[in-house]
Amino acid sequence: MAKVSVIGAGNVGATAADVIARSGYCHEVVLLDIKPGLAEGKALDIAQTAPLLGFDTQVRGVTNDYKAIADSDIVVITSGRPRSPGMSRDDLIHVNADIIKSVIEPAVFYAPNAIFIIVTNPLDTMVYYAYKLSRLPSQRVIGMAGVLDTARYRYFLAQELNSSVQDIEAMLLGGHGDTMVPLPRYTTISGIPVVNLLSKDKLDAIIERTKFGGGELTKLLGTSAWYAPGTAVAQMVASILLDQKRVLPCSVYLQGQYDLHDIYVGVPAKLGRNGVEEIIQLALNEEEKKLLLTSAEAVRAMNAVLKF
Ligand code: NAI
Ligand code: 2OP
Repeated sequence: MAKVSVIGAGNVGATAADVIARSGYCHEVVLLDIKPGLAEGKALDIAQTAPLLGFDTQVRGVTNDYKAIADSDIVVITSGRPRSPGMSRDDLIHVNADIIKSVIEPAVFYAPNAIFIIVTNPLDTMVYYAYKLSRLPSQRVIGMAGVLDTARYRYFLAQELNSSVQDIEAMLLGGHGDTMVPLPRYTTISGIPVVNLLSKDKLDAIIERTKFGGGELTKLLGTSAWYAPGTAVAQMVASILLDQKRVLPCSVYLQGQYDLHDIYVGVPAKLGRNGVEEIIQLALNEEEKKLLLTSAEAVRAMNAVLKF
């Protein structure tokens, strides 16, 4: 059995903890937050669903007590501010970088063997920063974004095709932002390329909606989404803990793959018990290469704000 700790018991962190707890493959889930009582309260509430749902996972909440995360197999970091009105993107980077810094040091100290999944935005910059601060091998520091973005893409496609979401397989590259690169050539419904089933206009509209999928929800909710993000984290956790070796779009450290160096950006990665076990290199056409490069440049521009 395994132990997963989630730092940040806000919307995404608590949802991830809830989905992981009920899935039954961990013996313990720990929620940690800086706000007194929040993690304890959410953990107790999740734990009280156990008799209703029939799971035995122990769910515990703590206020900034990092000893509680000792021996975690996975540490998920969701602590950080979502963007709010009047806040520039640069302001968010500095606020969240300070939070990542204050969290990563004690987390690595108490759970030095864990695999870290970073969720805090701006995602590709925060996971790079966490990797640098942690001094862990890059296989053990992974960013969550592509699993969420492809879930949105697959949902929109299934709606348009009046099909089951279960039959839609899709891949996506690039940073978690407006420049992300959904790949229609690598998107199928039961093995049939969607480019054969949908007009270019319809496909382009779905790709545009996917790229701005986070913004669409933020406008509706007044804060960013949590059900799909938390569930996306849980899918990555399952692939790692159960050694499923699923190929999922994740923000991983590139050292020459896709001609990119020293950057975290989204590409297909195989996740197993050792974290990132393989980075899959897709054959891209010229247009796809250009779009990926543009997205990587946007991530580099964001990284430059932090000057690390
Ligand atoms: P939230 O505001 O609901 O929760 C954040 C939690 O972090 C709060 O409970 C807060 O008290 C806690 N926190 C702040 N500083 C802390 C510290 N130093 N130590 C421990 N806990 C601390 O926000 P939400 O909606 O859960 O989002 C969290 C982050 O995830 C945001 O940065 C958001 O932009 C990002 N996000 C990323 C997604 C992705 O695809 N990568 C998707 C959705 C959200
Ligand atoms: C999302 O995509 C804002 O990253 C957040 O929902």
